This record gives sequence, structure tokens and C-alpha cells, in this order.
Amino acid sequence: MYIVKIGGSVITEKSRYRKMRENVISRLADEFIPEDSILIHGAGSFGHYIADKFNLNDGLGDSNRIEYARVALDLQELNSAIIRALIEREKPAITIPVHSFHMVGEEFPHRRFKDYMERGIVPVTYGDVVLDPRKGMGICSGDQIAFHLSKALRPDKVIFVTDVDGIYDRNPKIYGDAKLLGEVSGKEKLNFSGTVPDVTGSMEGKLRVMRAIAKLGIEVMVINGLVRGRLRRAMRGEDVKGTRVLA
Ligand code: IPE
Repeated sequence: MYIVKIGGSVITEKSRYRKMRENVISRLADEFIPEDSILIHGAGSFGHYIADKFNLNDGLGDSNRIEYARVALDLQELNSAIIRALIEREKPAITIPVHSFHMVGEEFPHRRFKDYMERGIVPVTYGDVVLDPRKGMGICSGDQIAFHLSKALRPDKVIFVTDVDGIYDRNPKIYGDAKLLGEVSGKEKLNFSGTVPDVTGSMEGKLRVMRAIAKLGIEVMVINGLVRGRLRRAMRGEDVKGTRVLA
């Protein structure tokens, strides 16, 4: 069984509010292998833009209630485009939105994901707004969902699909001489300075979650979703360019 997390920076233009990359969504839907898989996608400019501007990660207040609702709607629209692309390709996919059933601190209800998989349907979920007992509401990233589901369902592999070839020793979007790392184990000195912060923790936070999954004894790969064929090949179990994250 595979869990695939597609980053928001792959399927949206992160600097333009609510801008989808339709051609990338179509191609990744082509490449996605539905058998025994869960798909999680990120928010990109359908989530981070408003979440940043109205401090949605800090909690629910009178001034941002409407924005939680707006982000939930925006994300549903992005999700619908992905579900539609899968269904058009005869891949049965159904959404399980985290905001509808999860409260931070409670056990993540993974059973329904399994129930759909057992019926030959791909459960799809995404980084979302979420209920929080302390701060009213907050944000649950797709990476955190990948961790919860990995812990409960023990997939053979978790594939993180990003907009670069893998994890580098420094930000490849800033430093031309950044080196792609074939493996990351936490012992390397990585330079995260200059990475654009986002509400769910940027690269440093993402790597922490990836390593937590690797610590469960699960194979974790980071690959480039903007390069044709990499997702398909990774899902077939073939060797692809990317970074393997170790515990
Ligand atoms: C973020 O989810 C969710 C919101 C901002 C509401 P992710 O952290 O999984 O999204 P990306 O992959 O960084 O865009």
C-alpha cells in the first residue's frame, strides 16, 4: 500500500491566489496508480494565502471566522478538480475532508480510509482547516495527515511529490550550486535559510514529519512531480531520481 502526498506547490501557483496548474493536475492524475493507494494533496495558493494573511494557524477569533470558512471552500474547489481529473480517467476516488471529522488531539480516524480502499476506491484527503480544542480551529497540513495515516495503516511507502527533484543541502531556488541529496538521515547539515516560510512549517517542518514517518520503519521518498513520469515510476516501485528520507 502507498500513500502519496502531492505538495500544493506542484498543483497550484503558490504566489497567485487560487491559481491551479490544470495541466499538472491532469498529468499527475494520469500517472497516479489507484490500486491500494491513498492520495493526500496540499493547499498551495488555495490555502496558504488566506491562512497567512488572517493568522489562521493562531486560532479562531471573531475577526477570522469567515476566513476559515472561505479557506475550507477554496480547498474543496481545488480538491474537486483533482477528484474530477481522477474520475475522468476511470480512477474511482472519493474525498474524506479532515475538517469534517477530525479534532486535534483525538485519535485520527483512519478506519474510513481503509474501508474505502477495501472497496477499490481511492480515499483522497488534503491539508485543511481543522477543529482544535485549545484554539478553536487551526490548520492540519497534508504532511501531518500522512504521518497519522502512516502510523495507523503502515503503508509500504510514502511518496512526497514536490516541485523540485528532492531534498537539497540548501534551497535550490536560491542557490544555483545546491546539491541534491540521494539520502537524508538527519545527520547532514542542511541550510534552510532563505526558504519561504509557510503556515505549515516550510521545508524544515516537512522534513521533520518525513523523518517521523521513516522512524516507523516506512520507506519515504521525495520526488519531483513537475517531471513527467516520475510519479508513475515511483508508484511502480522503479528507481527514480529523488531523495530517500531515513529515520
Ligand atoms: C496546508 O496544507 C493547509 C492550509 C493552508 C489550510 P499543506 O501544508 O499540506 O499544503 P502545501 O503542500 O504546503 O501547499
